[in-house]
Amino acid sequence: MIEKTILVTGGAGFIGSNFVLNWIGREDSPIVNLDKLTYAGNLGNLSDLKNDPRHIFVKGDIGDRALVRELLNRHRPRAVVNFAAESHVDRSIHGPEDFIQTNVNGTFHLLQETRAYLEALEGNEKSAFRFLHISTDEVYGSLGPDDAPFTESSPYAPNSPYSASKAAADHLVRAFHHTYGLPTLTSNCSNNYGPYQFPEKLVPLMILNALNRKPLPVYGDGLNVRDWLYVQDHCDALRTVLASGYPGEVYNIGGGNERKNIDVVRTICSLLDELRPVPRQEYASLITFIKDRPGHDRRYAIDARKIGRELRWKPTENFETGIRKTVQWYLDNMAWVKSITSGEYQQWLETNYVNRGTA
Ligand code: NAD
Ligand code: DAU
Repeated sequence: MIEKTILVTGGAGFIGSNFVLNWIGREDSPIVNLDKLTYAGNLGNLSDLKNDPRHIFVKGDIGDRALVRELLNRHRPRAVVNFAAESHVDRSIHGPEDFIQTNVNGTFHLLQETRAYLEALEGNEKSAFRFLHISTDEVYGSLGPDDAPFTESSPYAPNSPYSASKAAADHLVRAFHHTYGLPTLTSNCSNNYGPYQFPEKLVPLMILNALNRKPLPVYGDGLNVRDWLYVQDHCDALRTVLASGYPGEVYNIGGGNERKNIDVVRTICSLLDELRPVPRQEYASLITFIKDRPGHDRRYAIDARKIGRELRWKPTENFETGIRKTVQWYLDNMAWVKSITSGEYQQWLETNYVNRGTA
């Protein structure tokens, strides 16, 4: 029997494309992948699926109600998995509007159309349907050094336009479950890293700057802490939540790998010293402390005991194994890097880093 389709949004971005590849390798259901192909979306991430009939790509916006309606009615998916978002905190500081448009309004329109679709379903099709919304630990705000990690009942306290827009979306998802009975699942995950991450984010930015002998721009004192999760572990967790999560529930997903930013950057430098040595120069000599991100959250940490206890998920990579794989992946995929670091990317580097000043 052919399994029913799932509709994935934002499946050409970093986590979305890793998820699509992970899913096609492990599950039977075909995927319809709706992605607007913003600067962050790249079909090259999915080139391995070019001739795979189980992946149908559609270029479009989650806020385009007519398109979403048509896709739902044509493909009759058993689930919607919503990755589509503007995702970079620094960009949300420079220009928050797109974040409201996609993360808040877009999610709202997607929920409305999904609700209408679900109302027309019956029997098993209806009871099996799920809406999985991918969110972030940033909605919980910032932790002090001795605070306990975020649980699913930590209060929301978003501090950037990005996290505020994700928090708004999470609240809408919750309300659609509570009010309309939409069978939603929400996951709040910590920082991901791995293949296909756009080099505006810390890990790939540092790898590529180092390889180009450019300064490694650490914000503030470099002592902010993030909880790092290898992206394929996140994808496995999401498949688990979709298969076994309980409608209306929230699952925190994290790697249990808290690291200070400066230590992440130093680890990348030592790996490059080993894998791509430059005579008489250590990559760490490129580290430069620059003016801090406004409103910079000090620490994130996830308590992932609920998903471990209830759904039996745990990560397979630790930070040391995952970051080694990641650095090696970038070294092996310079053609991919070249294809995405042209015009728009150079413009972003100019906006965020040139004339920023030192810490
Ligand atoms: P990304 O920026 O790499 O990819 C986002 C994708 O969404 C892109 O392919 C883009 O083209 C697409 N998109 C943007 N606006 C759209 C729209 N209006 N309609 C359709 N497609 C649209 O993001 P990512 O890092 O892969 O994050 C994916 C999701 O996971 C986001 O919701 C993000 O908030 C969440 N998340 C990310 C992390 C992380 O560390 N990257 C951690 C936790 C949660
Ligand atoms: O916690 C989950 C979140 O992780 C996701 O919701 C976001 O989509 C994702 O972008 C990420 O947000 P961060 O702001 O934590 O990630 P970023 O890679 O931008 O930065 C990680 C840390 O590194 C942060 O403390 C800021 C710092 N940093 C970042 C950049 C780009 C630097 O010091 N220098 C830099 O150039």
